[in-house]
Amino acid sequence: MRRSSMAALAALLLGAAASAPAVRAEGGCVGCHRTRDPALVAAWSRSAHGGSPPRAPCAACHGPDHAGAAARARRSATCLECHGGDGVAVRTHRLSKHGVIERLEGLGWDWARPLARGAYRAPGCAYCHAHAGGHDPGAVRDPDRARAVCLDCHGPRYVTRILEAGAAQLAVGRLKLAEAEAALARARGAGLPAAALAAAARHLEAMRADLRALRLGVAHHSPDDQWWHGQAALDGALLRLKGAIERGRRQRAAPGAEGTR
Ligand code: HEC
Ligand code: HEC
Ligand code: HEC
Ligand code: HEC
Ligand code: HEC
Repeated sequence: MRRSSMAALAALLLGAAASAPAVRAEGGCVGCHRTRDPALVAAWSRSAHGGSPPRAPCAACHGPDHAGAAARARRSATCLECHGGDGVAVRTHRLSKHGVIERLEGLGWDWARPLARGAYRAPGCAYCHAHAGGHDPGAVRDPDRARAVCLDCHGPRYVTRILEAGAAQLAVGRLKLAEAEAALARARGAGLPAAALAAAARHLEAMRADLRALRLGVAHHSPDDQWWHGQAALDGALLRLKGAIERGRRQRAAPGAEGTR
């Protein structure tokens, strides 16, 4: 107790340079920073990274001590320690111009610079998701916040055009999903054979995954995910879903003739 409060005092006095043992305990980060940066800690604990136990504790991004704590958290590699398994979220960024530039040039970037005012040539994960020290990674879903991030590097008219085009893309994708849901609901109401309904339900699940690829393709600016894994995949799955329902109808009308398509 005595030792740790001494260490905490040393950390306070030494500030960013401190790497005292007290800083290693997760409770230490939150306990001390709650008084120093109440808004930051509140935003983090309400976010998808907060919770009890926290899904992404302070030290998961910043490391166990203060030396280089901010620079470590800014690197995309830090986010990928946990998000690397999410194929779609990572692929969509990688295939974007932002991701390509980061991969070609990022090794030479000085991560000690803040994530604001276009201090980097292109945004890595944290530039958008922890912009200007924000600690809610989902905040960039708000179009006004997104716009503020883009304006660091792009002109206002370009940003308006890209954000509007993205919203329109997503609206079209959602219409396709809604059409599929309505068709399946009608088929269920009509009491089609269980096998046909199960096949249609599988195609609907595939469409939900395609819509996520489209949504993240829009958010992360991957044309490949907007068009190929997104719209084209949705079109294909919608056709297959309708086909499964049609076959179900024929089966019901002529039960002996399943093999006849
Ligand atoms: C005893 C209090 C205390 C504890 C415990 C503590 N910090 Fe800090 N931290 C500070 C102070 C004070 C500063 C401000 C230093 C400065 O501005 O020079 C700071 C600064 C920081 C910064 C900003 C560094 C920068 O370069 O701008 C980060 C990030 C940080 N702390 C993360 C953590 C993490 C993660 C933990 C737990 C592993 C932790 N802190 C534990 C007091 C503490
Ligand atoms: C998901 C990763 C992540 C987590 C978790 C995280 N941070 Fe950060 N934090 C960052 C990033 C990235 C920056 C740099 C922001 C910038 O450059 O504008 C940062 C910056 C900071 C700063 C400096 C703020 C400033 O405006 O200079 C402090 C202090 C800090 N974090 C404390 C904490 C504390 C305390 C926790 C836990 C309650 C925490 N962070 C959790 C990623 C994270
Ligand atoms: C310790 C593991 C861990 C680290 C490190 C981490 N995350 Fe997360 N993150 C999670 C978990 C767990 C969730 C909640 C479940 C999910 O959405 O996958 C999450 C959620 C998110 C979300 C969804 C937010 C929402 O409101 O829906 C975003 C965006 C995100 N993280 C971005 C980042 C970025 C950017 C970094 C690096 C600066 C990062 N994460 C670092 C584990 C982590
Ligand atoms: C150009 C800004 C930008 C960059 C760079 C960026 N993101 Fe995102 N990200 C977004 C936006 C905007 C959303 C919100 C998408 C939505 O829900 O419409 C998002 C959503 C997410 C989600 C939520 C997934 C879900 O299913 O809702 C995760 C996780 C995520 N990003 C992780 C990352 C990771 C990891 C990186 C780096 C490899 C990254 N992001 C780079 C802007 C960005
Ligand atoms: C840190 C700087 C930076 C930020 C922040 C940033 N971008 Fe970019 N963006 C770039 C650079 C650099 C390019 C590559 C420009 C080129 O084509 O030469 C680019 C390219 C793009 C492209 C691809 C253009 C093409 O010709 O293929 C789109 C779309 C885009 N950005 C949208 C956005 C949106 C939307 C945001 C905000 C959510 C954003 N960017 C945030 C720097 C940034």
